[in-house]
Amino acid sequence: MRVLVTGGAGYIGSHTVLALLEQEHIPVVVDNLSNSSIESLNRVSEITGKPIEFHNIDLCDEHAFHSFMREQSFDAILHFAGFKAVGESVANPLKYYKNNIGSTVSLLKAINASTSTSPPKVIFSSSATVYGSSTELPLTETSKTGDGITNPYGYTKFVCERILTDTVAANPAFQAIALRYFNPIGAHESGRIGEDPAGIPDNLAPFITQVASGKLSELSVFGDDYDTADGTGIRDYIHVMDVAEGHVAALGVSEPGFHAINLGTGQGTTVFELLTAFEAVVGSPIPYAVTPRRPGDIAECYADTSLAKKLLGWSSTRDISKACADAWRWQSQNPQGY
Ligand code: NAD
Ligand code: WQD
Repeated sequence: MRVLVTGGAGYIGSHTVLALLEQEHIPVVVDNLSNSSIESLNRVSEITGKPIEFHNIDLCDEHAFHSFMREQSFDAILHFAGFKAVGESVANPLKYYKNNIGSTVSLLKAINASTSTSPPKVIFSSSATVYGSSTELPLTETSKTGDGITNPYGYTKFVCERILTDTVAANPAFQAIALRYFNPIGAHESGRIGEDPAGIPDNLAPFITQVASGKLSELSVFGDDYDTADGTGIRDYIHVMDVAEGHVAALGVSEPGFHAINLGTGQGTTVFELLTAFEAVVGSPIPYAVTPRRPGDIAECYADTSLAKKLLGWSSTRDISKACADAWRWQSQNPQGY
């Protein structure tokens, strides 16, 4: 398939471009490099031995993006483009509403403007964050969404899912899938591509690898008084290559309409368990201190993965140890990122 990958130079996008090339698909990347480097795609080309078509375009620039779309034809679109820093979205909500919702609306307008009778299916990067304060565990796709979302970033994902639902309702030929990722971590096993956060990482796994490499002095463990086995928060950490392969599997879904599908492992892991798994691959203790809970955090979150198995024929195949080993290989071989 010829597949448009918006945001394809970013963390999950670049790993997915690699997975697409491995399955003989033809990815075409559109990215404005606002949170990424073209070096990620150079390295994917180097790993796969295949060239990648790249266009530096902002999806919110409708003039530029729509003229690009008029000249192109795609079987499917993987829509990763968007901002993702939860804390920044609280400080600067309009930046998030404008870019995350604006890019999605711009993409759908471009598809609607096409005269094709079979529009490309859209696979959207959603997030477990849409479940907000839902306490049903494991979280299934029918669990309540929207209530208790604690930040503008999370609302942009919730609203984009709504926009996709309404667009499909208005045009039955249209097919859209929202993949709700749980906590993607790790890197490609080559150690050549990985997560390259700007500044101090918000997320646990890159924070741990930067402490292990000496770039940061110690990890703050946000609370050890949750009602969990060791008192720390539980999340469903999923290897980024499993997430990437989940997208390739989603290309094969033929059911029309809108589908929301969890991409997780179904396994919950505490902060201390993840820290211990990293210590095992790093080979030395990783300094940490327990601090108060982070506002907005929930105690526990992991996926029911049965719908992904049923609709995509996909389930995760890599465990936490592999994710930690691959993340550490990337961090130690690329201490400054790209
Ligand atoms: P990322 O920041 O590494 O990648 C996003 C890419 O989109 C970047 O390359 C950025 O330059 C590009 N981009 C942003 N706005 C754009 C625009 N207007 N036009 C063109 N390009 C634009 O993030 P990621 O971790 O790879 O996440 C990819 C997607 O998955 C995002 O939508 C994110 O919200 C979602 N998601 C991520 C996680 C996670 O933990 N990483 C979890 C759930 C959902
Ligand atoms: C994981 C666990 C923290 C950092 C976020 C977004 C979500 C999705 C994935 C995009 C929690 C603890 C963390 C640290 C810690 N992204 N922690 N010290 O919050 O589950 O999800 O990323 O869609 O929308 O909200 O991930 O990695 O920040 O935290 O103790 O320095 O690690 O309290 O229990 P989170 P995270």
